[in-house]
Amino acid sequence: MKTEHAPTIRRADYRPLSWTVETVELHFSLDPEATVVTNRMLCVRNPDADEGPIRLWGEDLERLSLTVDGQAPQALRESGALIEIDADGDRAMVEVRTRIDPKANTTLSGLYLSNGGFFTQCEAEGFRRITCFPDRPDVMARFTVTLEAERASCPVLLSNGNLIEQGELPDGRHYARWEDPFPKPSYLFALVAADLVALERTVRTMSGREVLLQVWVEAGNLDRCGHAMDSLVHSMRWDEETFGLELDLDRFMIVAVADFNMGAMENKGLNIFNTKFVLAKPDTATDVDYENVESVVAHEYFHNWTGNRVTCRDWFQLTLKEGLTVFRDQQFSADMLARAAGPEGAASARAVKRIDDVRVLRAAQFPEDAGPMAHPIRPDSYQEINNFYTATVYEKGAEVIRMLHTLLGQEGFRNGMDLYFSYHDGQAVTCDDFVEVMSEANNGFDLDQFMRWYSQAGTPRVKASGEWSAADGSYTLTLAQSTPATPGQPDKLPLVIPVAVALIGPDGRDCPLRLEGEAQAGAATRVLQLTEAEQRFRFVGLAAAPVPSLLRGFSAPVVLELDEDDARLAFRMAHDADPCNRWDAAQRYAERVVLAMAADAAAPVPDAFVAAFRALLGDGALDPAFRAQALALPGEAYLLERMAPADPLALRAALVRLTRTLGERLAADWLALLDAMQVPGEYRYHPADAGRRALANLALRYLAAAGHAEGLARAQARFEAATNMTERFGALAALVQSTDPAREAALEAFHARYRDDALVLDKWFALQAGAWRWDDAAAPTLDRVRALLSDPAFSLSNPNKVYALLGTYFRANPGEFHAADGSGHAFWAEQVIALNAKNPQVAARMARALESWRRFTPALQASIRVQLERVLASEGLSPDVAEVVGKALGGD
Ligand code: ARG
Ligand code: ZN
Repeated sequence: MKTEHAPTIRRADYRPLSWTVETVELHFSLDPEATVVTNRMLCVRNPDADEGPIRLWGEDLERLSLTVDGQAPQALRESGALIEIDADGDRAMVEVRTRIDPKANTTLSGLYLSNGGFFTQCEAEGFRRITCFPDRPDVMARFTVTLEAERASCPVLLSNGNLIEQGELPDGRHYARWEDPFPKPSYLFALVAADLVALERTVRTMSGREVLLQVWVEAGNLDRCGHAMDSLVHSMRWDEETFGLELDLDRFMIVAVADFNMGAMENKGLNIFNTKFVLAKPDTATDVDYENVESVVAHEYFHNWTGNRVTCRDWFQLTLKEGLTVFRDQQFSADMLARAAGPEGAASARAVKRIDDVRVLRAAQFPEDAGPMAHPIRPDSYQEINNFYTATVYEKGAEVIRMLHTLLGQEGFRNGMDLYFSYHDGQAVTCDDFVEVMSEANNGFDLDQFMRWYSQAGTPRVKASGEWSAADGSYTLTLAQSTPATPGQPDKLPLVIPVAVALIGPDGRDCPLRLEGEAQAGAATRVLQLTEAEQRFRFVGLAAAPVPSLLRGFSAPVVLELDEDDARLAFRMAHDADPCNRWDAAQRYAERVVLAMAADAAAPVPDAFVAAFRALLGDGALDPAFRAQALALPGEAYLLERMAPADPLALRAALVRLTRTLGERLAADWLALLDAMQVPGEYRYHPADAGRRALANLALRYLAAAGHAEGLARAQARFEAATNMTERFGALAALVQSTDPAREAALEAFHARYRDDALVLDKWFALQAGAWRWDDAAAPTLDRVRALLSDPAFSLSNPNKVYALLGTYFRANPGEFHAADGSGHAFWAEQVIALNAKNPQVAARMARALESWRRFTPALQASIRVQLERVLASEGLSPDVAEVVGKALGGD
């Protein structure tokens, strides 16, 4: 680990390598502490590059030997991880033998151990921790892999592609040989050697090929794989039907591992997943877990085309595969929900999914875009690529693809995708290549200005104002855009912003829209293209002053600024025909109320707001899943973002007061809703049932927060009688959110029931770390978190545990974490330093919890600065954490 900060890598410095690799033969002699890797790669000169040496990267390796065509190399230079070798001719067989210690590898990058098994994670630059290799995504080679291990501890030996041979070896060992027919970059390499069992299914692809699907897990988890398998089959069908894309291998494997830095990884034919996104059964997984499993399985499966068949030229292009694949998984989930809801409920079901996506974007991406790590979806520079697997690259990246889809239409988009594969299958390409084919497939559709979405950071503001003219029945809408400065980008240019617009009449119905100059009125929702700093749109033929409904379906990732008084928000909460905007009206109203309460501790909860809330609550015509969204207050992270200066303590006090008030004043309504939302019969994962359970759980939370006696009794009873995790955990969460002493007993009972279940214990840790108040008096949440650090089930080496306990406390509990005495901040520094020594990627993710500190009140800033400086000055700081903390302190 280096102490000096890592150098900055720049996108503009990209050069193709002088030598690439055609074929790789890997041999692994697996041993927990001394694995020997033999790597024979056929290196070939790259005709499209300048003359130069063979370049390989190796990190944390013990190199046993290196030969070129069987000889010692004529010249070999090393600097840091880079090895340069001079070679003559056009082809060279380079053989490298390395020894690695998987047991000592706590970074979970490269080859590591988890519960006695061997697993790999190579994206982005983990392959160089296994062997020396030109470890860049623009080097695509054909891999053959032989694994050798002890049969007793590792009966299952897996790698990418097809199994071509297996057999016994002396001394209780055995081997397997795998061949991947598709050339791939090294980041998609994977191996697994462990004691696992598989759920199997064979299905036919659209061209009629029979393929074997496997979900590999530890023996005790075989009853939790069915949903992942179903999700995989649905994903395959969807990609065939929607994009004509078929599985290209005879076998597709998913493997679950308990120690994993991220969600999952799309290694060719051998996806490796965090157990959290594979395992699900009614007693241990909530409806949300089921949904997440489905979408992550889909995401990784979709990468097989968008990521693997066509990959990224360099890591700056990450959004090429991630933004596109997130967009694809979002569309898939929306289609699945719509199908389950049937024709009647399809539109609302889609909207609920869209609202989920918007919530994530606002809670995670908007703050990132406003902070010291702000970057375009295609960054221009980085110090550590692992820090750029961000909400911007993923979620905003998906929004950019969605806007393309909006501009080109479903058919135009599909034509673009077809052309993309016909031109670039088997290649490593750039975001420009993608946008170019989209244009070409659509009669040269001009996307030049659109490309600014790839290069400009920051969340654009769209300011809207309208002018009604009773004299001629016209409504003039003025839209003005601007993007705030971000680090390194003081000036911004206008973007192409699709703004979906409707005008609501006084009767609550959408008016048919007719722009000045048009012969007749058209559809009620129209997508306007805002391309200049300011533009005017004049609608004519209106009978009365309309209420605008803008950015319907959240048609662009921007902040919409529109002056609307309370009455108008309540009107849109009741009448907006677009569920996303109806939800957004409720969010805006709630935001206004809660921020006023945060600014003035004596400010009351307005009666009109309570009434508007009650109207939504009791509207039985509305889908329960939608009501659960609309009745949930805006997220704390998003609200902090909207507050200047951000004062997490005042905000928390306001949220507690507002939640209690809504619980108390609407108690009878919540109780009635609880009765109405019962789901009879055995648990099944179905969106309609999930919506009812979500709404019931929300009702319990409001009641419990208000300390309502009957509400608490209902929560207690539901906790005890629950037949599935969604209801059991929902009730427990409500109890924990109250200050009722019964919560301790409930937490204990929950723990006793699930003491051996790692994933359920993660929920138990997270619930306590995220609790609003541990006690009205002493014993704040920090004491609880500290105590849980030494719980036997907790481990700083397991990312899921760290995310559950520390991640929840640092990122999802600002009202406690930012305690005025600074104790939370000091604890943060202590934990980031401890994690840094074990797992820099996880440490960096935790470190980011304080990056937006400059937005806070002066007293909090002073407290945080000390701790940021303490971390930056600490011994052995990884480039990962150094980049985050360095940028947070930047400018000082
Ligand atoms: N490509 C994976 C996914 O989005 C994420 C892997 C990221 N891993 C990392 N260490 N940065 O599906
Ligand atoms: Zn991905």
